[in-house]
Amino acid sequence: MIKNIAIDGPAGAGKSSIAKIVASKLGYIYVDTGAMYRAMALFMLEKNVDINDEDAIGKAAGEADIKIRYENGVQCVILNGENVNDRIRTDEVSNAASKTSVVKKVRERLVALQQELASKENVVMDGRDIGTKVLPDAYLKIYMTASAEVRAKRRYDENISKGMESNLEKIRQEIIERDQRDMTRKESPLVKAWDAIEIDTGDMTIEEVADRIIGMI
Ligand code: DC
Repeated sequence: MIKNIAIDGPAGAGKSSIAKIVASKLGYIYVDTGAMYRAMALFMLEKNVDINDEDAIGKAAGEADIKIRYENGVQCVILNGENVNDRIRTDEVSNAASKTSVVKKVRERLVALQQELASKENVVMDGRDIGTKVLPDAYLKIYMTASAEVRAKRRYDENISKGMESNLEKIRQEIIERDQRDMTRKESPLVKAWDAIEIDTGDMTIEEVADRIIGMI
């Protein structure tokens, strides 16, 4: 029997770091759905499609061929034949992904790909609508949160550790805007599924949260 784990929550709550550990300890596949939305956003930016024009995004979405491949256990997002993993982690792409992901056509294509992946093997899948829309029958659903301050500080520290320039207040503002957009959009907004278990990761380490989830399984 397939035992999928759905992890949803706002940006910076710790979803991907924790999902990776849980997947590796359980021998499951980790599926990062945000990376797919980021690849779609990168496509729009490179094509000079206006990311505020939903009709234009809907039309262009059909030209973006997005696939997932695993290399040594690492998820690679392939956009029109090219591995774009190294190019989707910028603040520009983060903000664009939050805008382009409101478009129904974009979501339909990516949700179908996500459901196909989860139908074949046990996955730990993270995103915004996994428990509510992509995998409504998931074996375990987690809704991960942390305050905007905690999440902004994590992103700031991550940027600094990579040698990138960073402005804590700007990141905090962008996180609040992104949450607002992700939670209030018409198509599959970020909400806690009725049967999801909420974990506030603010005062916990990544390992503590991962152990708690594994304990639940
Ligand atoms: O998780 P992330 O920060 O990589 O996601 C980038 C954006 O993609 C996020 O702001 C909203 C969108 N997204 C989504 O709409 N649905 C998902 N399942 C995952 C991400």
